[in-house]
Amino acid sequence: MSSDNRVFIFDTTLRDGEQAPGMSMNINEKLEVAHQLERLGVDVMEAGFPIASDGDFEAVKTIAREVQGHATIAGLARVKEGDIERAAEALQYAKRSRIHTFLATSDIHMKYKLNMTEQQVLDNIYKGVSYAKTLADEVEFSPEDGSRTRLEFMIQVVRTAIEAGASVINIPDTVGYATPEEFGAFIRNIREGVGDMKGAILSVHCHNDLGLAVANSLSAIVNGALQVECSVNGIGERAGNAALEELVMALLTRKDYYGKEVGIRTEEIYRTSKTVSSTTGMSLQCNKAIVGKNAFAHESGIHQDGVLKERSTYEIMDPKKLGIHTENLVLGKHSGRHAFADRIKQLGFELNTEDLNKAFKRFKDLADKKKEINDLDLEAIVTDEIRHIPEKFTLAYSQIFTGSKLVPTATIGLQIEGVDELQEAAAFGDGPIDAVFKAVDKLTGIEGTLESYSIDAVTGGHDAMGEVVVRLGYGDTSFVGRGVSTDVIEASAKAYINAVNKICFELKK
Ligand code: KIV
Ligand code: ZN
Repeated sequence: MSSDNRVFIFDTTLRDGEQAPGMSMNINEKLEVAHQLERLGVDVMEAGFPIASDGDFEAVKTIAREVQGHATIAGLARVKEGDIERAAEALQYAKRSRIHTFLATSDIHMKYKLNMTEQQVLDNIYKGVSYAKTLADEVEFSPEDGSRTRLEFMIQVVRTAIEAGASVINIPDTVGYATPEEFGAFIRNIREGVGDMKGAILSVHCHNDLGLAVANSLSAIVNGALQVECSVNGIGERAGNAALEELVMALLTRKDYYGKEVGIRTEEIYRTSKTVSSTTGMSLQCNKAIVGKNAFAHESGIHQDGVLKERSTYEIMDPKKLGIHTENLVLGKHSGRHAFADRIKQLGFELNTEDLNKAFKRFKDLADKKKEINDLDLEAIVTDEIRHIPEKFTLAYSQIFTGSKLVPTATIGLQIEGVDELQEAAAFGDGPIDAVFKAVDKLTGIEGTLESYSIDAVTGGHDAMGEVVVRLGYGDTSFVGRGVSTDVIEASAKAYINAVNKICFELKK
């Protein structure tokens, strides 16, 4: 494979993605996502912005130490000395490290945000990149607001960064303003204008404000970009970044057109998407390309008939290649531990004995309530059972009195870590779920602000499990909790307690 055919996938789920409102993940969740990104086969993972907070620093450091596979670990830094040193410190244990440093270059940013002249910007780029080069294996430079930067100045910027030692020059469409033809031409003009790139490659980083992030990235690839920055499920600032799964599948499905290779193991795409949506609490729209619930659902009779006769009549991708198992092997009450463990493994989970035992018990409890248990149910209970934090509070029971003429009342029993006896409290509420949350507040002493609550059925059917995701604000951070049960009030209680446990873990309460 000639290097001009290989497009490098730079994942920024843990940096730009995590930066998006309400997306924050704790360190264990970030590490889980990082391991999954490594299994997916990304070339570079941007683990965070170390100067931004101690939490970000620790996350980058932990990922750099623990994820020692194929992926280069990157940390973001402004071109300031302090940022660069902090990024280098966080990346010190990485198998291969990259400092990704940036400075804005558009007229509008230089004038209003930086208050710098072009020469000052060039000097700062040179200084920052050359310093970063002494502290990491590789340096990437991004001219922020690149798509709105004047071409002539951009060419000077790129030459300066390469001169100072950057091996990747990433052109961001920071505000999602570009259009595909224009952005493609911009990339081509930069490449031609710079001339000798001295071995450095061009990359792009597109935001989705106009819904064009993937199209712009593809257009850049056609015009010579060899790296694309993207995030799983397209999460990121505002409308997000180019979605990794869409970019990769466009390149692979239309290899006849693009003629490019990527190093992604597509069978891990679905699991990665699930991991990111459950750790961030951001559920996907049903019609989301590639990984949405309906992405491979054929409703029209004509389409169904066509797919049954020959799949390629209406399906351009094989869901199995994305790790989506549509055959949905059904397990039930009489299925044994062996069949259960086997299926869990096929679904891509690697559980230790303790987690497997917990998940199997949960499966048996569910089988008493639900006749047929399919892959979606299994995924939901396994993800629900594997908590990434110690559970200070565990739901023991819940009792609800409610009705159109009753004041909703909830009684909650909690097992509290280090306390022998079950603790019980009751509360009234505006509705049964509000009453549950108030009773939990009384027992935990943690009163967050409920920022969002969502409920979704894991599968179809009356006996489907409900999956609840809550976002609880506490101090200046939000904590996502998730709970699954056939009883939606119980699922709500579990989700709320899960968020409270995260607060206790993160804030050492
Ligand atoms: O959108 C942007 O410009 C960025 C840079 C830091 C690459 O995220
Ligand atoms: Zn960005």
